Amino acid sequence: MERNVIVGQSGGPTAAINSSLAGVYRTAKDRGAKKVYGMLHGIQGLLQESYIDLSDHIKTKLDEELLKRTPAAFLGSCRYKLPAIHENKDVYEKIFAILDKLDIEAFIYIGGNDSMDTIKKLSDYAIITGHPCRFIGTPKTIDNDLPLTDHTPGFGSAAKYIGTSMKEIIRDGFCLDYGHGLVTIVEVMGRNAGWLTGATALSKGEDCEGPDLIYLPEIAFDLKKFMKKVKKLLEIKTSIMVVVSEGIKTTDGTYVCELAKPIDFVDGFGHKQLTGTASYLATYVANELGCKTRAIELSTLQRSASHLASRVDILEATQAGGAAVMAADEGDSGKMVVLERISDDPYQCGTSIRDVHKIANGEKLVPREWINKEGDYVTDEFIAHVLPLIQGDVSPIMVDGIPRHLLTPKELSHRS
Ligand code: F6P
Repeated sequence: MERNVIVGQSGGPTAAINSSLAGVYRTAKDRGAKKVYGMLHGIQGLLQESYIDLSDHIKTKLDEELLKRTPAAFLGSCRYKLPAIHENKDVYEKIFAILDKLDIEAFIYIGGNDSMDTIKKLSDYAIITGHPCRFIGTPKTIDNDLPLTDHTPGFGSAAKYIGTSMKEIIRDGFCLDYGHGLVTIVEVMGRNAGWLTGATALSKGEDCEGPDLIYLPEIAFDLKKFMKKVKKLLEIKTSIMVVVSEGIKTTDGTYVCELAKPIDFVDGFGHKQLTGTASYLATYVANELGCKTRAIELSTLQRSASHLASRVDILEATQAGGAAVMAADEGDSGKMVVLERISDDPYQCGTSIRDVHKIANGEKLVPREWINKEGDYVTDEFIAHVLPLIQGDVSPIMVDGIPRHLLTPKELSHRS
């Protein structure tokens, strides 16, 4: 590389998103980039000329290691949809003028399906105008719903945390006698894809029965059938564990969480904020069956638990960041790095690149054949697919008994 690189983070964060940032930084530096800039709050921040020189923040090898162990987007994130090129050329002119001012040769964006829309539009604009800057996406999302990649960095760590927490919650449920029984409803993120919800089955093993029922958003949720199952289970067990995706819908397409209260928050890409499914169902079960219920929304914890990150995930996230820089350096643009599984046993995975137009705004759901016939559990094939992705640990760097993180540019500015 002869000139400069700029990198941004976009969408919901993960425990591995900063490993991709570390991978971009290291590879760009090793390949001779003069400066590696970081957009603060993605493309939205760049439009306000808000960026940093990453060398001012990553000064030592220890900083790089801390960065990989730091959850949430180090640079700050955004959910900002660029207008269509024909609708507002001014925005593109402004972005490209900033890129020229910073002498950028490669623009790397770490994000999910919505964020890849940004890479798609910017690379299209570069083609139209004959601009030489290259635009490459690095996959990221706990939801694991990006097309064309075997899985996404961030998913493995979230799945490991979810599987582990599930085991702990299941054990807790059996230690008190609540008379009429306990029904616990655990709500998991993932929007319209059930990958993370299905990952609760990873808790199942020699020392744990796993959840009793798992409801993925890929299958329409039938409240009557669900109640029948819970009632039957309560006849034989004192503690029932039900997992629901935040995105389960009734047959008419209404999100279950909307049954409790209409959703008023919608993000820049038109996604409704999904929350309250577990709490709605727990209240419903308590009213109908008179038993004790508990609603647990794993919420932010599942995507920020870097203390329980998967080593495979952190390594792959770092590798994906590096692969994006290599692709740009070799002249590619309008592409996203994908993970390609080579074998399951031993698990081996490599990287490749694919056309971002085939990925942006798409959604990869759990295949029907990986969900049981009844639509309330995942199959062994699902578990075999996910298991390699949660292997290994990354020890946190502990200070005074608590994991140490790298201070973000925002935190540093608040302190000065
Ligand atoms: O896209 C990742 C994700 O974690 C989804 O699973 C979830 O629906 C969404 O982000 C939540 O976003 P926010 O934290 O902005 O409410």
